[in-house]
This record gives sequence, structure tokens and C-alpha cells, in this order.
Amino acid sequence: MDFTLSEEQLMIQQAARDFAQTELLPGVIERDDAQKFPEEQIKKLGELGFLGMMVDPKYGGSGLDTLSYAIAMEELSKVDASSSVVVSVNNSLVCWGLETFASEEQKQKYLTKLTTGEMIGAFCLSEPEAGSDATSQKTTAIDKGDHYLLNGTKNWITNGGTAGVYLVIAQTDIEKGHKGINALIVEKGTPGFEIGPKENKLGIRGSDTHSLMFNDVKVPKENRIGEDGFGFKFAMKTLSGGRIGIAAQALGIAAGAYELALKYSKERKSFGTEICNHQAIAFKLADMHTEIEAARLLVYKAALDKDNGNNYDLSSAMAKLFASKVAMDTTVEAVQIHGGNGFVKDYHVERLMRDAKITQIYEGTSEIQKIVISRSIIKQ
Ligand code: CAA
Repeated sequence: MDFTLSEEQLMIQQAARDFAQTELLPGVIERDDAQKFPEEQIKKLGELGFLGMMVDPKYGGSGLDTLSYAIAMEELSKVDASSSVVVSVNNSLVCWGLETFASEEQKQKYLTKLTTGEMIGAFCLSEPEAGSDATSQKTTAIDKGDHYLLNGTKNWITNGGTAGVYLVIAQTDIEKGHKGINALIVEKGTPGFEIGPKENKLGIRGSDTHSLMFNDVKVPKENRIGEDGFGFKFAMKTLSGGRIGIAAQALGIAAGAYELALKYSKERKSFGTEICNHQAIAFKLADMHTEIEAARLLVYKAALDKDNGNNYDLSSAMAKLFASKVAMDTTVEAVQIHGGNGFVKDYHVERLMRDAKITQIYEGTSEIQKIVISRSIIKQ
């Protein structure tokens, strides 16, 4: 497998790196502290084409491949995972899901606005009692002829307060189990649709996470994505690609923490020398560098599988499982290398450590990735 980046991919990498330094870094600590959504930054990312990276230009997208998207996700996440999660959800869960499975009318109506950042999207699968066990949907979408009547609660929804459009997974026919689930497009402001308070989170505090309540919400039939009963497969297929974005986010968090730790270790002195000259620190740096490179290869492999038309359920699950562990391990060690300074906000690594944790939880916990991986290898 050839992992050499093309001229175009190198340009995207540089553009994302520059954007992270000039637009995301200023104020990142304050936004985290205040749980402030990066509104201006997301608007600019939309204008630059980072919100619909893989979408056909005829819908306002950038027409790039998955590898370019993963590369951009890594660079943005080195600096600000609260912003990069918005990029990831909008690109992989919302835009990709709509471009691949929605009708032409739905694409014209929604996708063209989502790719440019005129509005952002949310993906609503998780519920108070259906997080990992995604087939146990309690939200119902009862068929009423020309519309569905939507009732229930969704939890931990990224972009929950700021989205303009929500892809909501709900049970239409309980007798049919997962084959009775539908995916519906719900617009903000539809009567009966309420947004709960913003969650107060450990990490990615700038991102906007809410519960959502649906009370007799009328959703027109034409807002269903795909055939009747396609909703669960829609969610699973979409999440397979989403996991590449989150794996790239985890990789970026790890790489960002490593770069800070390497720099710090070359400046900070103890016992008469820079601390990188102590084997205790040098060996940590060696482990970090090796693990990050391994994570990057898994992320690139998953992205290339998707770009080459191969099945990527297994490779995306492996990339997410591994990269999120590397993110956690690397950020903890980056704090350790920074010593007392690592424990204060100004040095960024404590935030990266807090941000890393969610990559082992959302878009399928690490335990869920192991289910996907083990089922896949046993089946082979
Ligand atoms: N592609 C297509 N179809 C798939 C699929 C995939 N990747 N994975 C499963 N399916 C199909 C199966 O083939 C099966 O269909 P058939 O009966 O027709 O064969 C059907 O879906 C049910 O599959 P399973 O029997 O394997 O279902 P399960 O109940 O055992 O659960 C699971 C499988 C993998 C554990 C799944 O429930 C899962 O992925 N859970 C985690 C959900 C998740 O990732 N939640 C994250 C929330 S979203 C989020 O975090 C977004 C955010 O805001 C950041």
C-alpha cells in the first residue's frame, strides 16, 4: 500500500496546519474554559471547504478523497479537538450519509447548505438507554400516512444546539427489530422539537453537546432517508466512515501532545541538562513517536480502503481503537514530561489529555470496536 501523499494532499495538510495555528490556536484555552462554541472558526472552515470535503462540487463540496479529509482532521485536532469534532460529524456522519443515501431533492435542499457551513448538521442515534446497544431504539417514528410522528429523547448529540438539520434514527416497527428502524431528516424549529441544556463536559468543551426531545413532531415522509426500514443500516454504514474521522482526530490529539512534549523536553533543564537527555524522558518520546506513526498508518489504511472501494468496517474500527488508545497514552505522558507545568492550562497538554478521552467513547466505544473487529476476523 502506497502512503505517499500527493501534491494536493500535501497542500491540504499545509492549509489545515496553517488554519489551526492562525485561527484555532488563539483563544482555544478560553473557549475550552468557557465552553464556548467556535462559531467564527466553523464559519471560516465552511468558507474554505473543510465542512464538505468529500462531497461532489455540484453540491458545494470540495470533491476530495477520504485520505485528504483524514489528513486535515489530524492537523486541526493537533490544536483544537472541539472544532475538529464539528468538522468530523458534519463531513462523515451528515454530508457523507446524505450524499450516499439521500434522494436528489434532499441533497439539493440540505447538502448544498451543509457543505458550505451555511448550516451544520447533527447525527442523532444515541439515547439514554441505547448508546452502544444501538438497535434498542426507544424513540419512535410512527407511520401516519404522509408523515411520521416522532417521539422520544436523544442524548449526547454533537452540534445539538447549533445544528440546522438533524439526522434522527427512530423505531417505526418494533416487531421488525433493526429492520423497522428509519433515519429521518428533522429541521430545527419543527414544532415539538426541543433542545435540552448544554452538557458540561470533561473534554472537547467548546463543542456543543445536548440532549434533544421530540414530542409529537411531524416529519414529512419525504424526509426519510432511503427505503422504509433502512435506518439502522444507514447508521452503521455512516458510522464506519465516521470512525475514520474520529481515528484521525485521536491521531491529531496524540501528535499535538507529542510535538509539545518534544519541544518542552528540549528547552526544560534539570540536573544540568535538557530533560530530553535523560533516558527516562527520551524513552517516553521514543514510545510516543513509534505509536503515533503506527496509528497514522492504520488511519491512512482505513481511508485508502474507503477511497479504493474496499470494505472498511474492519480497518476503520482498528484505526479508531488503536489511535484513541495512543491519544490517551500519549497525552498522559505529555503531561508527565511537562511536570508541574503540564498540570496548568497554559501549556495545552492537560486540555489535550481531557480531549483524548472522548475518542475512546463516541462513534462506538473501544469495546464496540472490539466487537466489530472480532466479529469480522471470526467471519473471515
Ligand atoms: N454496515 C452495514 N450493515 C451493518 C453494519 C455495517 N457496518 N454493521 C451491522 N450491520 C447490519 C448487520 O448486517 C445486521 O443486518 P442483517 O440482520 O440484515 O444481517 C444489522 O445491521 C444488525 O447488526 P448486528 O446483528 O451486528 O447488531 P448488534 O445489535 O449486534 O449491534 C453493533 C452491532 C456493532 C454493536 C452496533 O450496535 C454498534 O455499532 N453500536 C455502537 C453504536 C455507536 O457507534 N454509537 C455512537 C453514537 S453516534 C456518535 O457518537 C456521534 C457523535 O455525535 C460524535
